[in-house]
Amino acid sequence: MLSIARTISPSIIALLIFGCYSGTHGTSIRSLDVPHIVRNGTGPVDLICIYEIDKDDNGLVIKWFHEAYQIYQWIPPMPPQDIGIIKGLAEYPAENLRNPYSHSVIQLKTITIDMTGEYVCTISTFQYEASASAKMIVYVPESDMTVRTYPFNKTHVNLTCAVTGARPRPSLRLYVEGIEKNDRGSDYESSKSSTDWYEDDPRVSLDVIIEDMPDPAVVECEMSIPDTEYRRRKRIVYYPTQLLPYRTNVSQGRHKAMLLIDIFYVIVLRLIVT
Ligand SMILES: *[C@@H]1O[C@H](CO)[C@@H](O)[C@H](O)[C@H]1NC(C)=O
Ligand SMILES: *[C@@H]1O[C@H](CO)[C@@H](O)[C@H](O)[C@H]1NC(C)=O
Ligand SMILES: *[C@@H]1O[C@H](CO)[C@@H](O)[C@H](O)[C@H]1NC(C)=O
Ligand SMILES: *[C@@H]1O[C@H](CO)[C@@H](O)[C@H](O)[C@H]1NC(C)=O
Repeated sequence: MLSIARTISPSIIALLIFGCYSGTHGTSIRSLDVPHIVRNGTGPVDLICIYEIDKDDNGLVIKWFHEAYQIYQWIPPMPPQDIGIIKGLAEYPAENLRNPYSHSVIQLKTITIDMTGEYVCTISTFQYEASASAKMIVYVPESDMTVRTYPFNKTHVNLTCAVTGARPRPSLRLYVEGIEKNDRGSDYESSKSSTDWYEDDPRVSLDVIIEDMPDPAVVECEMSIPDTEYRRRKRIVYYPTQLLPYRTNVSQGRHKAMLLIDIFYVIVLRLIVT
Protein backbone atom coordinates (compact mmCIF):
# COMPACT_ATOMS: atom_id res chain seq x y z
CA MET A 1 0.00 0.00 0.00
CA LEU A 2 2.70 2.42 1.02
CA SER A 3 4.77 1.82 -2.10
CA ILE A 4 1.70 2.36 -4.34
CA ALA A 5 0.94 5.61 -2.57
CA ARG A 6 4.53 6.72 -3.04
CA THR A 7 4.56 5.96 -6.76
CA ILE A 8 1.14 7.46 -7.51
CA SER A 9 1.32 10.71 -5.58
CA PRO A 10 4.30 12.28 -7.41
CA SER A 11 2.68 11.60 -10.80
CA ILE A 12 -0.64 13.10 -9.64
CA ILE A 13 1.24 16.15 -8.41
CA ALA A 14 3.11 16.33 -11.71
CA LEU A 15 -0.20 16.14 -13.62
CA LEU A 16 -1.72 18.86 -11.46
CA ILE A 17 1.27 21.13 -11.98
CA PHE A 18 1.27 20.43 -15.72
CA GLY A 19 -2.51 21.05 -15.93
CA CYS A 20 -2.19 24.37 -14.13
CA TYR A 21 0.74 25.65 -16.12
CA SER A 22 -0.25 24.53 -19.61
CA GLY A 23 -3.92 25.46 -19.20
CA THR A 24 -5.03 22.76 -21.69
CA HIS A 25 -6.60 19.33 -21.47
CA GLY A 26 -4.24 17.75 -23.96
CA THR A 27 -5.49 15.39 -26.57
CA SER A 28 -8.97 13.92 -26.49
CA ILE A 29 -11.62 12.62 -28.86
CA ARG A 30 -14.82 14.66 -28.66
CA SER A 31 -16.99 12.36 -30.77
CA LEU A 32 -16.95 9.57 -33.28
CA ASP A 33 -19.75 10.06 -35.74
CA VAL A 34 -20.45 6.81 -37.58
CA PRO A 35 -23.96 5.94 -38.83
CA HIS A 36 -25.37 3.11 -36.76
CA ILE A 37 -27.19 1.42 -39.62
CA VAL A 38 -26.65 1.82 -43.37
CA ARG A 39 -28.15 -0.02 -46.30
CA ASN A 40 -25.76 -1.94 -48.56
CA GLY A 41 -25.02 -0.22 -51.86
CA THR A 42 -25.84 3.29 -50.61
CA GLY A 43 -23.45 6.21 -50.20
CA PRO A 44 -21.56 8.42 -49.81
CA VAL A 45 -21.33 7.98 -46.04
CA ASP A 46 -19.02 9.99 -43.80
CA LEU A 47 -17.19 8.49 -40.83
CA ILE A 48 -16.12 11.46 -38.71
CA CYS A 49 -13.73 11.55 -35.80
CA ILE A 50 -13.76 14.90 -33.98
CA TYR A 51 -10.96 15.64 -31.56
CA GLU A 52 -9.07 18.28 -29.71
CA ILE A 53 -5.30 18.60 -29.94
CA ASP A 54 -2.99 20.95 -28.19
CA LYS A 55 -1.28 22.82 -31.04
CA ASP A 56 2.07 22.55 -29.24
CA ASP A 57 1.94 18.77 -29.50
CA ASN A 58 4.11 17.26 -32.19
CA GLY A 59 3.97 14.04 -34.11
CA LEU A 60 0.23 13.90 -34.88
CA VAL A 61 -0.89 10.58 -36.35
CA ILE A 62 -4.54 9.65 -36.92
CA LYS A 63 -5.44 6.02 -37.49
CA TRP A 64 -8.69 4.20 -38.06
CA PHE A 65 -9.28 0.50 -37.46
CA HIS A 66 -12.09 -1.77 -38.59
CA GLU A 67 -12.55 -4.90 -36.48
CA ALA A 68 -8.99 -4.40 -35.17
CA TYR A 69 -7.46 -4.16 -38.68
CA GLN A 70 -5.95 -0.84 -39.65
CA ILE A 71 -7.77 0.80 -42.57
CA TYR A 72 -6.42 4.37 -42.53
CA GLN A 73 -3.46 6.47 -41.56
CA TRP A 74 -3.07 10.21 -41.73
CA ILE A 75 0.15 12.03 -40.89
CA PRO A 76 -0.60 15.65 -41.84
CA PRO A 77 0.36 17.42 -44.03
CA MET A 78 0.67 14.28 -46.15
CA PRO A 79 -2.59 12.97 -47.63
CA PRO A 80 -4.43 10.14 -45.79
CA GLN A 81 -3.82 6.58 -46.90
CA ASP A 82 -6.48 3.88 -46.93
CA ILE A 83 -5.78 0.17 -46.56
CA GLY A 84 -7.76 -3.05 -46.39
CA ILE A 85 -11.56 -3.08 -46.78
CA ILE A 86 -11.84 0.62 -47.64
CA LYS A 87 -8.91 0.74 -50.06
CA GLY A 88 -10.01 2.64 -53.16
CA LEU A 89 -13.52 3.12 -51.73
CA ALA A 90 -12.81 6.30 -49.77
CA GLU A 91 -12.54 9.93 -50.81
CA TYR A 92 -10.89 12.88 -49.11
CA PRO A 93 -12.33 16.15 -50.41
CA ALA A 94 -10.04 19.14 -49.74
CA GLU A 95 -12.47 20.71 -47.24
CA ASN A 96 -12.15 17.59 -45.07
CA LEU A 97 -8.35 17.90 -44.92
CA ARG A 98 -8.22 21.55 -43.91
CA ASN A 99 -8.31 20.97 -40.14
CA PRO A 100 -6.05 18.08 -39.20
CA TYR A 101 -6.06 19.35 -35.58
CA SER A 102 -9.85 19.01 -35.24
CA HIS A 103 -11.24 16.22 -37.39
CA SER A 104 -10.60 13.29 -39.67
CA VAL A 105 -13.26 12.29 -42.18
CA ILE A 106 -13.42 9.10 -44.22
CA GLN A 107 -15.96 9.52 -46.98
CA LEU A 108 -17.03 6.08 -48.16
CA LYS A 109 -18.24 6.29 -51.76
CA THR A 110 -20.37 3.15 -51.65
CA ILE A 111 -21.25 0.97 -48.69
CA THR A 112 -20.51 -2.74 -48.98
CA ILE A 113 -21.39 -5.51 -46.55
CA ASP A 114 -17.75 -6.01 -45.49
CA MET A 115 -17.90 -2.52 -43.96
CA THR A 116 -20.16 -3.76 -41.17
CA GLY A 117 -18.45 -3.85 -37.76
CA GLU A 118 -16.65 -1.82 -35.16
CA TYR A 119 -14.63 1.27 -36.09
CA VAL A 120 -11.94 2.72 -33.84
CA CYS A 121 -10.39 6.14 -34.35
CA THR A 122 -7.08 6.74 -32.60
CA ILE A 123 -5.13 9.94 -32.45
CA SER A 124 -1.64 10.19 -31.07
CA THR A 125 1.00 12.78 -30.56
CA PHE A 126 4.39 12.38 -28.87
CA GLN A 127 2.70 13.19 -25.54
CA TYR A 128 -0.77 11.72 -25.76
CA GLU A 129 -2.93 9.05 -27.25
CA ALA A 130 -6.72 8.75 -27.34
CA SER A 131 -9.19 6.44 -29.03
CA ALA A 132 -12.93 5.98 -29.46
CA SER A 133 -15.03 3.28 -31.07
CA ALA A 134 -18.43 3.01 -32.76
CA LYS A 135 -20.31 0.25 -34.52
CA MET A 136 -21.81 0.41 -38.00
CA ILE A 137 -24.22 -2.24 -39.27
CA VAL A 138 -24.62 -2.65 -43.02
CA TYR A 139 -27.90 -4.34 -43.80
CA VAL A 140 -29.31 -5.96 -46.90
CA PRO A 141 -33.11 -6.10 -47.23
CA GLU A 142 -34.74 -9.45 -47.80
CA SER A 143 -35.17 -10.65 -51.37
CA ASP A 144 -38.08 -12.89 -50.40
CA MET A 145 -40.32 -13.48 -47.40
CA THR A 146 -43.03 -16.13 -47.28
CA VAL A 147 -45.54 -17.24 -44.67
CA ARG A 148 -47.24 -20.60 -45.20
CA THR A 149 -49.25 -23.17 -43.32
CA TYR A 150 -49.04 -26.92 -43.84
CA PRO A 151 -51.13 -29.67 -42.26
CA PHE A 152 -48.88 -31.40 -39.69
CA ASN A 153 -51.17 -34.18 -38.48
CA LYS A 154 -54.87 -34.57 -37.78
CA THR A 155 -54.84 -32.12 -34.88
CA HIS A 156 -51.92 -29.77 -35.57
CA VAL A 157 -50.73 -27.38 -38.27
CA ASN A 158 -47.21 -26.30 -39.18
CA LEU A 159 -46.79 -22.53 -39.57
CA THR A 160 -43.63 -21.52 -41.39
CA CYS A 161 -41.97 -18.25 -42.16
CA ALA A 162 -38.95 -18.12 -44.46
CA VAL A 163 -36.77 -15.13 -45.32
CA THR A 164 -33.99 -15.13 -47.89
CA GLY A 165 -31.33 -12.58 -48.70
CA ALA A 166 -31.53 -10.45 -45.55
CA ARG A 167 -28.30 -9.60 -43.70
CA PRO A 168 -27.24 -9.64 -40.96
CA ARG A 169 -29.21 -12.68 -39.80
CA PRO A 170 -32.75 -11.52 -39.08
CA SER A 171 -34.82 -12.84 -36.20
CA LEU A 172 -38.30 -14.14 -36.93
CA ARG A 173 -41.50 -14.24 -34.92
CA LEU A 174 -44.84 -15.80 -35.78
CA TYR A 175 -48.18 -14.47 -34.54
CA VAL A 176 -51.66 -15.94 -34.76
CA GLU A 177 -54.38 -13.31 -34.32
CA GLY A 178 -51.74 -11.03 -32.81
CA ILE A 179 -50.52 -13.56 -30.23
CA GLU A 180 -46.91 -14.72 -30.54
CA LYS A 181 -46.50 -18.48 -31.04
CA ASN A 182 -43.29 -20.07 -29.83
CA ASP A 183 -41.91 -22.95 -27.79
CA ARG A 184 -43.20 -21.63 -24.47
CA GLY A 185 -46.29 -23.31 -23.08
CA SER A 186 -47.74 -26.28 -24.88
CA ASP A 187 -46.71 -25.21 -28.36
CA TYR A 188 -43.79 -26.85 -30.08
CA GLU A 189 -41.19 -24.95 -32.03
CA SER A 190 -38.30 -26.01 -34.19
CA SER A 191 -36.04 -23.49 -35.80
CA LYS A 192 -33.80 -24.26 -38.76
CA SER A 193 -30.13 -24.03 -37.98
CA SER A 194 -28.18 -21.21 -39.57
CA THR A 195 -24.87 -22.91 -40.44
CA ASP A 196 -25.11 -21.81 -44.08
CA TRP A 197 -25.76 -18.22 -43.06
CA TYR A 198 -22.77 -16.50 -44.63
CA GLU A 199 -22.94 -18.34 -47.92
CA ASP A 200 -24.21 -16.77 -51.12
CA ASP A 201 -27.87 -17.26 -50.36
CA PRO A 202 -28.56 -16.44 -46.71
CA ARG A 203 -31.80 -17.98 -45.57
CA VAL A 204 -33.53 -18.31 -42.24
CA SER A 205 -36.81 -19.97 -41.37
CA LEU A 206 -39.02 -20.59 -38.40
CA ASP A 207 -41.56 -23.42 -38.04
CA VAL A 208 -44.08 -23.54 -35.27
CA ILE A 209 -46.44 -26.46 -34.77
CA ILE A 210 -49.70 -25.40 -33.19
CA GLU A 211 -53.08 -26.95 -32.53
CA ASP A 212 -55.42 -26.57 -35.47
CA MET A 213 -57.78 -23.63 -35.21
CA PRO A 214 -61.54 -23.94 -35.62
CA ASP A 215 -61.92 -20.65 -37.49
CA PRO A 216 -59.99 -18.67 -40.08
CA ALA A 217 -57.15 -16.78 -38.42
CA VAL A 218 -54.59 -14.15 -39.36
CA VAL A 219 -51.07 -15.62 -39.34
CA GLU A 220 -48.36 -13.00 -39.35
CA CYS A 221 -44.58 -13.21 -39.51
CA GLU A 222 -42.33 -10.42 -38.36
CA MET A 223 -38.68 -10.27 -39.33
CA SER A 224 -36.32 -7.84 -37.69
CA ILE A 225 -32.61 -7.24 -37.98
CA PRO A 226 -31.22 -7.22 -34.42
CA ASP A 227 -29.94 -3.87 -33.09
CA THR A 228 -31.66 -2.01 -35.91
CA GLU A 229 -35.05 -0.49 -36.61
CA TYR A 230 -35.40 -2.58 -39.73
CA ARG A 231 -38.48 -4.79 -39.63
CA ARG A 232 -40.99 -6.22 -42.09
CA ARG A 233 -44.28 -7.98 -41.53
CA LYS A 234 -46.13 -10.34 -43.78
CA ARG A 235 -49.56 -11.81 -43.08
CA ILE A 236 -51.82 -14.44 -44.53
CA VAL A 237 -55.28 -15.66 -43.57
CA TYR A 238 -55.34 -19.29 -42.49
CA TYR A 239 -58.40 -21.29 -43.43
CA PRO A 240 -58.75 -24.62 -41.64
CA THR A 241 -58.35 -26.89 -44.69
CA GLN A 242 -58.48 -30.46 -43.44
CA LEU A 243 -62.03 -30.22 -42.20
CA LEU A 244 -63.16 -27.60 -44.67
CA PRO A 245 -66.22 -29.31 -46.24
CA TYR A 246 -67.58 -30.27 -42.81
CA ARG A 247 -66.88 -26.85 -41.31
CA THR A 248 -68.39 -25.10 -44.30
CA ASN A 249 -71.60 -27.05 -43.80
CA VAL A 250 -71.56 -26.37 -40.07
CA SER A 251 -71.03 -22.66 -40.56
CA GLN A 252 -73.63 -22.55 -43.30
CA GLY A 253 -76.01 -24.32 -40.94
CA ARG A 254 -75.15 -21.96 -38.13
CA HIS A 255 -75.58 -19.01 -40.45
CA LYS A 256 -79.06 -20.23 -41.45
CA ALA A 257 -80.01 -20.72 -37.81
CA MET A 258 -78.84 -17.18 -36.94
CA LEU A 259 -80.85 -15.79 -39.81
CA LEU A 260 -84.01 -17.60 -38.57
CA ILE A 261 -83.43 -16.25 -35.05
CA ASP A 262 -83.03 -12.71 -36.47
CA ILE A 263 -86.29 -13.04 -38.43
CA PHE A 264 -88.00 -14.41 -35.33
CA TYR A 265 -86.83 -11.40 -33.25
CA VAL A 266 -87.93 -8.95 -35.92
CA ILE A 267 -91.39 -10.53 -35.93
CA VAL A 268 -91.55 -10.54 -32.11
CA LEU A 269 -90.42 -6.89 -31.95
CA ARG A 270 -93.00 -5.87 -34.55
CA LEU A 271 -95.68 -7.64 -32.50
CA ILE A 272 -94.58 -5.84 -29.32
CA VAL A 273 -94.44 -2.43 -31.03
CA THR A 274 -97.85 -2.70 -32.65
C1 LIG B 1 -24.58 -4.88 -51.96
O1 LIG B 1 -24.70 -3.79 -52.86
C2 LIG B 1 -23.90 -3.94 -54.04
C3 LIG B 1 -24.03 -2.66 -54.84
O2 LIG B 1 -25.37 -2.31 -55.05
C4 LIG B 1 -24.37 -5.15 -54.82
O3 LIG B 1 -23.57 -5.33 -55.97
C5 LIG B 1 -24.26 -6.38 -53.92
O4 LIG B 1 -24.77 -7.52 -54.59
C6 LIG B 1 -25.03 -6.16 -52.63
N1 LIG B 1 -24.81 -7.29 -51.74
C7 LIG B 1 -25.80 -8.08 -51.33
C8 LIG B 1 -25.40 -9.20 -50.45
O5 LIG B 1 -26.97 -7.89 -51.64
C1 LIG C 1 -49.88 -34.10 -33.75
O1 LIG C 1 -48.61 -33.59 -33.37
C2 LIG C 1 -48.58 -32.94 -32.10
C3 LIG C 1 -47.22 -32.32 -31.92
O2 LIG C 1 -46.19 -33.22 -32.13
C4 LIG C 1 -48.91 -33.95 -31.01
O3 LIG C 1 -48.93 -33.30 -29.73
C5 LIG C 1 -50.29 -34.54 -31.30
O4 LIG C 1 -50.60 -35.55 -30.39
C6 LIG C 1 -50.33 -35.12 -32.72
N1 LIG C 1 -51.70 -35.54 -33.03
C7 LIG C 1 -51.99 -36.71 -33.62
C8 LIG C 1 -53.43 -37.00 -33.90
O5 LIG C 1 -51.10 -37.50 -33.93
C1 LIG D 1 -42.96 -27.43 -41.45
O1 LIG D 1 -43.07 -27.24 -42.86
C2 LIG D 1 -41.85 -26.89 -43.51
C3 LIG D 1 -42.18 -26.62 -44.97
O2 LIG D 1 -42.77 -27.75 -45.58
C4 LIG D 1 -40.85 -28.01 -43.34
O3 LIG D 1 -39.64 -27.66 -43.95
C5 LIG D 1 -40.62 -28.23 -41.85
O4 LIG D 1 -39.73 -29.32 -41.66
C6 LIG D 1 -41.94 -28.51 -41.16
N1 LIG D 1 -41.70 -28.60 -39.73
C7 LIG D 1 -41.91 -29.69 -39.02
C8 LIG D 1 -41.58 -29.63 -37.55
O5 LIG D 1 -42.37 -30.70 -39.54
C1 LIG E 1 -71.40 -30.03 -47.45
O1 LIG E 1 -72.33 -29.33 -48.28
C2 LIG E 1 -72.15 -29.62 -49.65
C3 LIG E 1 -73.13 -28.73 -50.43
O2 LIG E 1 -73.47 -27.59 -49.73
C4 LIG E 1 -72.35 -31.10 -49.93
O3 LIG E 1 -72.15 -31.38 -51.30
C5 LIG E 1 -71.39 -31.91 -49.08
O4 LIG E 1 -71.65 -33.29 -49.24
C6 LIG E 1 -71.53 -31.53 -47.61
N1 LIG E 1 -70.49 -32.21 -46.85
C7 LIG E 1 -70.78 -32.91 -45.74
C8 LIG E 1 -69.58 -33.51 -45.07
O5 LIG E 1 -71.89 -33.02 -45.29
